[in-house]
Amino acid sequence: MSTTVRAQLGDRSYDIHVGRAMPRRLAIADEELRVLLVSDSNVDPLLGDSWADGIAESGASVFRMVVTAGEASKVQDNVTRIQTMAVESGLDRTSCIVALGGGMVGDLAGFAAATFLRGIRLAQVPTSLLAMVDSAVGGKTGVNLPAGKNLVGSFHQPVEVIADIDALASLPDREYRSGLAEVVKYGVICDEAFFDRLEDQSDALVGRDPDLLELVVARCCELKAQVVETDEREGGLRAILNFGHTLGHAIENVAGYGEWLHGEALSIGMAFAARLSTEVQGLPAGQADRIVSLLTALGLPVDCKKADCLWGDLREAMIADKKTRGTVLRFVLADRMGHAVIGCEVQEAAMTSAFKLLEKA
Ligand code: GLY
Repeated sequence: MSTTVRAQLGDRSYDIHVGRAMPRRLAIADEELRVLLVSDSNVDPLLGDSWADGIAESGASVFRMVVTAGEASKVQDNVTRIQTMAVESGLDRTSCIVALGGGMVGDLAGFAAATFLRGIRLAQVPTSLLAMVDSAVGGKTGVNLPAGKNLVGSFHQPVEVIADIDALASLPDREYRSGLAEVVKYGVICDEAFFDRLEDQSDALVGRDPDLLELVVARCCELKAQVVETDEREGGLRAILNFGHTLGHAIENVAGYGEWLHGEALSIGMAFAARLSTEVQGLPAGQADRIVSLLTALGLPVDCKKADCLWGDLREAMIADKKTRGTVLRFVLADRMGHAVIGCEVQEAAMTSAFKLLEKA
């Protein structure tokens, strides 16, 4: 049993397959195809052989490359390594790069595919919850610079996404919970009924119930695909996906990358955005409480105490963030559960009082 979601993007449309015990095969594979399978040092020992063998059963020639696990690998040097390997393996404009791993591998291998020979095909095989519900879908690819995360990149839609829920069983607890933060985000910004369901089934979610996870991942992919179909290049609506990210990025930045997982920082950022939503967009305080309670029930942080980040430092980091114009801070906020508004200007007093509420959490 699996679920297929179609991302409708004209000649860049593709299927997103979500299920358990997914066949290790690519829809585009045949005897002519040359594939470079890129993975990392955590995922390759678990899944590299089975994916390489599975794809090769179609007659395709499969070459492999493994990068060191961790965000530090998401750099231009590794793009060059992947592309050099692609040349040495005889890949041409009809070939395909397969990204097997979490968000780092997807972004890195995706950017290598986007820029090799001005763009070759890319298949995403996400193995972390965060990659399944967010980064593998929608076509954002890129690498980091010393000056900041994701400062170099391009939009390059995959030709296929295959999310095998079974891969989630072996994720470290912290990483799994971090992915749940992105899941909650979809409920808050675009699907109230989905949020209700997450609340009702938070224990099963924490327990990684595979049937529930298949439904949850498929629904997140469907919601993300709908947003991306409307605004592929983030001219407007797609920015709702950044709910919670303004403070989240600032925490990652101020605390030092690697100190907090993306989803943990995002969780604090969403708790802050929920409080701001009450101050600025009239989200009933009880609804903001529900967001904070659900994040807490999922074992996610909702205050900055442990991060030891000072408000002044976080505020400076938010102003420096590439998504702000001038020094006026704009946020994505919810005006009701399941609906978000982009570009909300927020005055200093509202931010300070929302931050104080976090300290009391
Ligand atoms: N991760 C946000 C986006 O894909 O737009």
